[in-house]
Amino acid sequence: MDYFILGINLLFFLIVLTLVCYLIYVFRSFRQIVPYVPTPYSIIKRMINLADLQPNDKVVDLGSGSGRLVYRIAKRHQGEVWGIEKSRLLLLVARLRQPFNRKKGQIFWQQADIFTYDLSHFDKVFCFLTSRGMKNLEENFQKMKIGSKIISYTFPLISKENFSQERRQFGQKDKIFVYTKMS
Ligand SMILES: C[S@@+](CC[C@H](N)C(=O)[O-])C[C@H]1O[C@@H](n2cnc3c(N)ncnc32)[C@H](O)[C@@H]1O
Repeated sequence: MDYFILGINLLFFLIVLTLVCYLIYVFRSFRQIVPYVPTPYSIIKRMINLADLQPNDKVVDLGSGSGRLVYRIAKRHQGEVWGIEKSRLLLLVARLRQPFNRKKGQIFWQQADIFTYDLSHFDKVFCFLTSRGMKNLEENFQKMKIGSKIISYTFPLISKENFSQERRQFGQKDKIFVYTKMS
């Protein structure tokens, strides 16, 4: 019985510790090129609809945070969904959410820097970054395969060379940009 209570206390302590570290990370992330701000659920739904997902599409969320977008995509999409994130803590939070999320497809988490990440194998690239983040990704975007799409919340591509653009706007401030790689 004592071990049971000890176990409960330990679990509670670990949850509180993770939560405190999470909050510290969120505040500190505002000093970085791309801070941690989860994509609103209403926007995620629209981004997924605009992505025109095909059954075998390989999908990636650049800067996947706590996995909100990845889980929403995997709930509807039967192909591979990748979450690329540099923060180990956010990846841990994302993994811990796994048992609470139903999924059709296969999810892969990877700790990596999105600015040096190879995007040439993906069909759909989701992102919610910053203008500076989009600028830093220019070279990687150019290496995407023909016909693949970028679905970006709020921030447009800086150079649209080799991409056709289709912008969808919802409300006063919400913008979703969709681009297709043409050549
Ligand atoms: C605006 S949040 C988007 C969160 C997530 N896509 C969602 O929908 O909830 C941007 C994320 O990018 C991550 N990030 C910032 N710079 C990064 C880098 N160089 N490599 C990988 N991830 C990065 C941040 O830690 C943060 O989680």
